[in-house]
Amino acid sequence: MSFTIKTHLEQPVQSNKVKKTEYNLIQVKGTWKRKVGKNFSQNLKGCGSAAKIYESTTEQGTSWTVVSPIVFTYKVIQSQGLLDPSNDTLLLGHIRDPEQLEAIRSSTTPLRRFVVIDEIVYNLYGRQLIDYLQAFGAVYRILPLPTTEENKSMELAMQILEEVHKFSLDRRTEPIIAIGGGVCLDIVGLAASLYRRRTPYIRVPTTLLSYVDASVGAKNGVNFADCKNKLGSYVPPVAAFLDSSFLQTVPQRHISNGLAEILKMALMKHRGLFELLEIHGRFLLDSKFQTQGLQGEDSEPASVCTRLAIETMLEELAPNLWEDDLDRLVDFGHLISPELEMKVLPSLLHGEAVNIDMSYMVYVARERGFLTEKDKIRIISCMVGLELPVWHQDCTLAMVQKSLCERLKHSGGFVRMPLPIGLGNAEIFNDTSDETLYKAYVRWCDELSTKPPHIPNREHIIDVVDN
Ligand SMILES: NC(=O)c1ccc[n+]([C@@H]2O[C@H](COP(=O)([O-])OP(=O)(O)OC[C@H]3O[C@@H](n4cnc5c(N)ncnc54)[C@H](O)[C@@H]3O)[C@@H](O)[C@H]2O)c1
Repeated sequence: MSFTIKTHLEQPVQSNKVKKTEYNLIQVKGTWKRKVGKNFSQNLKGCGSAAKIYESTTEQGTSWTVVSPIVFTYKVIQSQGLLDPSNDTLLLGHIRDPEQLEAIRSSTTPLRRFVVIDEIVYNLYGRQLIDYLQAFGAVYRILPLPTTEENKSMELAMQILEEVHKFSLDRRTEPIIAIGGGVCLDIVGLAASLYRRRTPYIRVPTTLLSYVDASVGAKNGVNFADCKNKLGSYVPPVAAFLDSSFLQTVPQRHISNGLAEILKMALMKHRGLFELLEIHGRFLLDSKFQTQGLQGEDSEPASVCTRLAIETMLEELAPNLWEDDLDRLVDFGHLISPELEMKVLPSLLHGEAVNIDMSYMVYVARERGFLTEKDKIRIISCMVGLELPVWHQDCTLAMVQKSLCERLKHSGGFVRMPLPIGLGNAEIFNDTSDETLYKAYVRWCDELSTKPPHIPNREHIIDVVDN
């Protein structure tokens, strides 16, 4: 990150005389000092900072440019039995220093934790959570909240902040724990990033979508002015703890919802993951990723699927946590869907809206010659097999155009459009013509809408219109 502090109004340089100095920073007895030169740190090991100050002096005055690299480190841990008292991951899994961990484990001072939990999840797992915290002798406050998409607002974030404040949290040692779906994790993440400017927090996803997507990156947020996630920040959690046993109580529609985000990564980056969804999608839906009692190969699809989804997601997110680079493959399915999701709220789930967007984009890719007809049909069939909607009457051409115009405004004058090229491979394009978008739209509606004049290959997409 860099920013510049100027001591004068910007004026045309009238002279060639510019004196430039690069300063390193070293701490001597608690005081930071600027030092010129490259070899300063040889005798002062461990006291230097990665930050630099660049000073530039002209006849008009002096300016300083501060370059201060900020590093975020966070853990994503898959752990079965998070609420089992023999497993202390939920309370201590975020601590990286082994000595500190040992000191806490052997201390008699009770741990304090503030937990925000989705109301429905609390009804299902609240007793277990209380027993767990009590087993560790923790001092705790549990705040169950109706964290639904309609409530994903600043008001709910403020409610959390009021309660956090009352609990009088020590922000150095007491991370806030969020347990729930993506909505809960997003709201708590925003509240934590605001409280005392940045309080550490932990994400415990309990839906498939939040397990593979919302919990592994840095973003948080709430809806605002009828726009999705319009207020938010890029502050990752200190840790995300992933326990797939929560998924056993998730309604099947929400498993499909999560599979949409997994399919996104498959289409963009991993043909093997796509084929796994094609072959084992039905099994994953029915088993809800539960592998207890299954042996060897039978338990593989679930663990391979979540591992590949997380790995491919982390690959794309880690180098671009703050989304400085706007070319993001993970935006596939997110060009039109935010507008659609908010328009029809609450009738479409996030992943369902994403899937409708992806389905249209598959037609755009086909129109541009990036997908064969066979590949297109395979993708749409896979979506249908995962019980995901592939078309929606409210996704009108006007909405497509409006969404793309919005994107144009916010992405540096280009619509950056991730498109699949074959199966499991993709690139980002900014040159898709209006004519292509139109032709793809007509064909998309023609083949997949509820009143199609002709549907090719009916055995593949026969169910589409009914979903
Ligand atoms: N921050 C990110 O990077 C990111 C990424 C993707 C999506 N998101 C956000 O995530 C949200 C969608 O998340 P979601 O699909 O998890 O929705 P959600 O949080 O609304 O949860 C879906 C439903 O499942 C219920 N539920 C949760 N866990 C359950 C369980 N174990 N058993 C039974 N019911 C359970 C919830 O009460 C809710 O009714 C959207 O707001 C989206 O913007 C954020």
